[in-house]
Amino acid sequence: MKKIVILISGRGSNMQALLEAKLPCRVAAVISNRADAEGLVIAKAHGIPTTVVEHRDYMDRDSFDAALAKTIDSFDPDIVALAGFMRILTTNFVTRYHGRLINIHPSLLPTYGGLDTHARALQDGVKIHGCTVHFVTQDLDHGPIIIQAAVPVLRDDTEHTLAARVLREEHRIYAQAIRWLCKDKVVLDEQGHAILQHRKQSGFTLVSPGLD
Ligand code: GRF
Repeated sequence: MKKIVILISGRGSNMQALLEAKLPCRVAAVISNRADAEGLVIAKAHGIPTTVVEHRDYMDRDSFDAALAKTIDSFDPDIVALAGFMRILTTNFVTRYHGRLINIHPSLLPTYGGLDTHARALQDGVKIHGCTVHFVTQDLDHGPIIIQAAVPVLRDDTEHTLAARVLREEHRIYAQAIRWLCKDKVVLDEQGHAILQHRKQSGFTLVSPGLD
């Protein structure tokens, strides 16, 4: 059975969804860069080993990432899943975990990389928003996309209501992506695209606002 390590910085709702998803892999550890991350309490309650590598204890990104990698490697994971891990990672780190480092991002990438995705979507008046699970590369929030979910943006949405609608989908697609990875169903093609082998695809269309 493959092993996975989950990296968090805060609330940990995606991590919790993964712990409760009955994944076909073993969650070897949850690692946080902050000792006060709420998600650590949830992980412990699930009986998962937790470790903190405080970024503030390190002089620069290189030394933090080296310490983080050492901790991750001590669990010998097949997959490293970033779940609300709020640190930008160095090229060395990303290269070390090429093809096994994944992230969940709260937008339909490649639009709205970075922070404040829901506020920016509302500001732009887009009618469809969503979330993305992707491999992490040096290009921030632009690695090969594994799966996306789209949600409608409703007329009265606030940042909060939109974030909640997207988060529900994050919890579903992150578990799905990891299930596929655990079963070696995702491959990277020559163009660097993530291809899902085997898959029946749905022709479902989301039109927002709906047609009359
Ligand atoms: C999620 O919206 C995730 O997409 C983003 O940070 C947020 C983390 O939330 N990267 P949680 O800690 O998983 O609840």
